[in-house]
Amino acid sequence: MILTQPQLEQSTNVEPIRKICCIGAGYVGGPTMAMIAKQCPDIEVKVVDINADRIAQWNSDDLPVYEPGLDEVVAESRGRNLHFSTEVDQAIADAQMIFISVNTPTKHFGVGAGRAANLEFIEKCARKIAEVAQGHKIVVEKSTLPVRTAEAVKAILAGASSGATFDVLSNPEFLAEGTAVEDLVAPDRVLIGGESQAAVDALVDVYAHWVPREKLLTTNLWSSELSKLTANAFLAQRVSSINSISALCEATEADVDEVAMAIGMDSRIGPKFLKSSVGFGGSCFQKDILNLVYLCEYFGLPEVAEYWEQVVKMNDYQKTRFVRRIVRTLFNTVSDKKIGIWGFAFKKDTNDTRESAAIYICRDLLHERAKISIYDPRVDAEQIRRDLADVMRNGDSELSAASEKLLNENVEIVTDIHDASKDAHGIAVLTEWDEFKDADFERVHNEMKKPAFIFDGRNILKNLPLADIGFIYQGIGFSR
Ligand code: UDX
Ligand code: UDX
Repeated sequence: MILTQPQLEQSTNVEPIRKICCIGAGYVGGPTMAMIAKQCPDIEVKVVDINADRIAQWNSDDLPVYEPGLDEVVAESRGRNLHFSTEVDQAIADAQMIFISVNTPTKHFGVGAGRAANLEFIEKCARKIAEVAQGHKIVVEKSTLPVRTAEAVKAILAGASSGATFDVLSNPEFLAEGTAVEDLVAPDRVLIGGESQAAVDALVDVYAHWVPREKLLTTNLWSSELSKLTANAFLAQRVSSINSISALCEATEADVDEVAMAIGMDSRIGPKFLKSSVGFGGSCFQKDILNLVYLCEYFGLPEVAEYWEQVVKMNDYQKTRFVRRIVRTLFNTVSDKKIGIWGFAFKKDTNDTRESAAIYICRDLLHERAKISIYDPRVDAEQIRRDLADVMRNGDSELSAASEKLLNENVEIVTDIHDASKDAHGIAVLTEWDEFKDADFERVHNEMKKPAFIFDGRNILKNLPLADIGFIYQGIGFSR
């Protein structure tokens, strides 16, 4: 992981940035570059990706990423100073500053499998930059990476045969999906790590177009890389901590939302990220914690590794516990019973399903032979089918005939919430979409088998008079 690298030539005088390129048009690269283009009309921003379909979508009216407010941000700059293209080489050659925003999934094979990040795409990007760059370039790591990845990137760049020179910066993204646009407009802070003051200043100047200077934090490279992992680990830890208490609340007569409110009013603890749920998901939390765990083990710190790994274990436990409770409540069997799944995205206001708790809940319900009918207002049916096939496949192995049968016969994906509840024995709310609170519950109740159960994995229906309608209602972290 750590490479000793030749000292790179460092610039002392970097021209103001007028041309930026970003490799990776995903959930992070797309919105971040759209915001830079909007706020910096004097800078040409080109976003490139090897996936031609994705680029075509960015150039259409149907963006590949659903984010409130993003359509307007893209519409303002696209065709002016924001361009989406598959011409990676040309974009690299033209740019003064190159952001790397490709995905870094958890490795599924070889050394560090299940924990370490797969840096294959980062390395390919660095090699491509080394191959086509001329002159001086500033390379910015936007992807979340294990600490000291910049060393590897620098070593690869130092091998450029063209004689090009490079500065490497770390500029981790802290936006949360669903609120990406507001997070980009008014970030709590922008973190820039680097060794060359001139390169750091060049990136500071880009953000200073709209972010107050006091929110632009500069550190050394390694602090910047580690801060991203640590921020996500702390956030996820809060969710796992409150979820651990939810189990205790269900066993006692405490209510986890009341406990969260009471502790959150202590200004030292604070109210955010204390919402107990069916479990955290998203592309970052689990991956980043596992990265941290791997890193600690690598550096001979097994106690620290174990400490953080528990956050992920608690999250797995929360998901398993939810399914067990459903089965127990439905008279110890869900075999052949229809369960309506409301929500599949890992949180509201996004079409992203990566590591969504819903994937694992659905898998476990299928293993219990339930029939599931899934409704999500934003996630494509194809994406849901892919996620379920992947999780049933269990790693790299083939899909067994039994799993394939379950996927074909026991999974239905619907576009109307009432289709998911019709003849269902229970409904599981897995994403906190606002529209679920406004559902016509009288109608839902009439459509369902009786007794009609609602299992609310987000506690969003808790204050509705569902019992009066006739539902048996269960949420997370309280018992009624
Ligand atoms: C980001 C960060 O980059 C990741 O490290 C962080 O932890 C999560 O957020 P994200 O933008 O969400 O990833 O990923 P994704 O939506 O998968 O987008 C990555 C894009 O990079 C994809 O469109 C993919 O096609 C592209 N890509 C990948 C390339 O263009 N070149 C490659 O070599 C690999
Ligand atoms: C996270 C970080 O917040 C962001 O700074 C980083 O850049 C990327 O990772 P994201 O994964 O998009 O962002 O969403 P986030 O709002 O953090 O939610 C993650 C998961 O935790 C979701 O599944 C959410 O439902 C869950 N969560 C969050 C809870 O269960 N309870 C809470 O109180 C907060």
